[in-house]
Amino acid sequence: MSLSVLQTLSAHLGAAFAAMDLPGEYGRVTESDKSAPFQCNGALAAAKLAKKSPRDIADFVVEQLSGNPDIAVAEIAGPGFINLTPSDALVKRRVKELAADGRIGVRDAEKCATIVVDYGGANVAKPMHVGHLRSAVIGESLKRILRARGHKVIGDVHLGDWGLQMGHLISELQEEQPDLPYFEAAIIDGFPKDSPVTMDDMARLYPQASAKSKSDPGRLKKSQLATAELQAGRPGYRALLDHFIRISIEYLKQGYGDLGVEFDLWKGEASVDPLIPGMIDAMKAQGITEESDGALIIPVDENYDEEKRKGIPPVMLRARTGAVLYHTTDLATLLDRKTEIDPDYVLYVVDQRQATHFEQVFRAAVKAGWYKREQLEHLGFGTVNGKDGKPFTTRAGGVLKLSDLTKMMREAAAKRLEKSGIGQDFGAAEQTDIANKIGMAALKFADLQNQRTTNYIFDIDRFVSFEGKTGPYLLYAAVRIKSLLRKAKDKGVEPGDILPLEKAEQNLVLMLDSFNRALAAAEAKRMPHILCDHVYTLAQAFSKFYADCPVLANEVPDEIKSSRLALAALTLKQLEAGLTLLGIETPERM
Ligand code: ARG
Repeated sequence: MSLSVLQTLSAHLGAAFAAMDLPGEYGRVTESDKSAPFQCNGALAAAKLAKKSPRDIADFVVEQLSGNPDIAVAEIAGPGFINLTPSDALVKRRVKELAADGRIGVRDAEKCATIVVDYGGANVAKPMHVGHLRSAVIGESLKRILRARGHKVIGDVHLGDWGLQMGHLISELQEEQPDLPYFEAAIIDGFPKDSPVTMDDMARLYPQASAKSKSDPGRLKKSQLATAELQAGRPGYRALLDHFIRISIEYLKQGYGDLGVEFDLWKGEASVDPLIPGMIDAMKAQGITEESDGALIIPVDENYDEEKRKGIPPVMLRARTGAVLYHTTDLATLLDRKTEIDPDYVLYVVDQRQATHFEQVFRAAVKAGWYKREQLEHLGFGTVNGKDGKPFTTRAGGVLKLSDLTKMMREAAAKRLEKSGIGQDFGAAEQTDIANKIGMAALKFADLQNQRTTNYIFDIDRFVSFEGKTGPYLLYAAVRIKSLLRKAKDKGVEPGDILPLEKAEQNLVLMLDSFNRALAAAEAKRMPHILCDHVYTLAQAFSKFYADCPVLANEVPDEIKSSRLALAALTLKQLEAGLTLLGIETPERM
């Protein structure tokens, strides 16, 4: 098995500590931003156990390392830090391995697991908003990162398709077209195959009903009744629901597809409805449910105090009206996943504001004995805010539709390209394609680069800028390498063995070598921004290399030309791989 430079150094230092009869773990090497690329702080940590001064331990370790062909410099700093510079030979050996490795250093996790990622979470009939965008972008990236690390990952969109919005749609459609067979209670089968509504109809009917219900309690009652009858299994309403879901999925597949987001499962709340009665009976039999004011609940916090509003409120399994709720469908979904997939982990990429909901659901699932608590994770994220610091909306204050948002990004990217004169002599189709890719890269990178849990401000001008830590900057960096490779081909220069001699070359190799570490950290913390940091620092390391080390200039010896060209090609490969894991596509040129 091939080790990274950091792992190789750790092994050498571990052996040196072991030679002092100290645990090898003290030899752990970390990256350093000080005078040398790596450091080991084990001498300080080991002092107590060894009953020696850190300095004496460090002296001994450095002594052990002298003459080691993998280490150029091992130097003591301060009270006993050991600064480490790898030898040229080690760096060269490692880059050769990386260049020959189809995964560019990426390794499988120690334990590969089966993981369900629940993300997207769009609602049938309700327009998608920026919260759904964050879920889709973060979830997709996590799914790809986990897959890259060898896990078996199943992405499920978990549509919201079982709530009051369905009752709104059904009852509003009935007001418009009362003669449809779906509304005739006596008709129980043979319903038309074609949907009576389009996506546009639904987008009109739902807000119409919702607005009417706000001012008219009688109208709301109708929607509630339709919801209850649907959930009780009224055949005409079920048939309508099937149409609504099918039409919505077609539409959503398009919308998510435009974002480069793909789900393995298109299940939703409605799809687990058949499991609910059995689930509730089983939970009752287990004795974990309680009746409360006619509702059926599961207490999940011994110290819950309703009056003082302290602790976690109980799970609502069934309301007094008999309706099942958001808790119920999420529990039934966990049961469904248990029996169909039996995952090691279920990750929910959902707005931070739903944290209590998930805590409740998870505790109930643990009480039911289906999962251990640590198998269930809510990966919350913050809100996208406008410049006023309030959640981002349209100019009129409404929910911003996802399609309008992506359109906005594409247009801003096209404008920016025009202003900077980039790609203006290409054909119209290519220009549009480039603008689309830049727009999406801008949007996704701006979202992913923040620590997932923080809120951020939607600042389109900054997002589409080619300068700074942005998606467009990274695409530009990748495209610049592509153009270098084309130029080299024209000149007949072939990539060869990589001989990293200059400092900027060595640094670039060490950056490339840290890819797996970044992915492992992003995986462990479920935080794509760690990968964003990696691709950004990699692009910067390439920039430095490109400025310091001419590749195709006439005076450069052929062997060096070929070496630098190969290093550039390897960087491009990793840059694109990293961007792909963020869900970002790179154009061929711009
Ligand atoms: N449809 C929900 C919403 O719009 C999000 C669903 C999240 N996933 C889940 N399993 N509850 O808020």
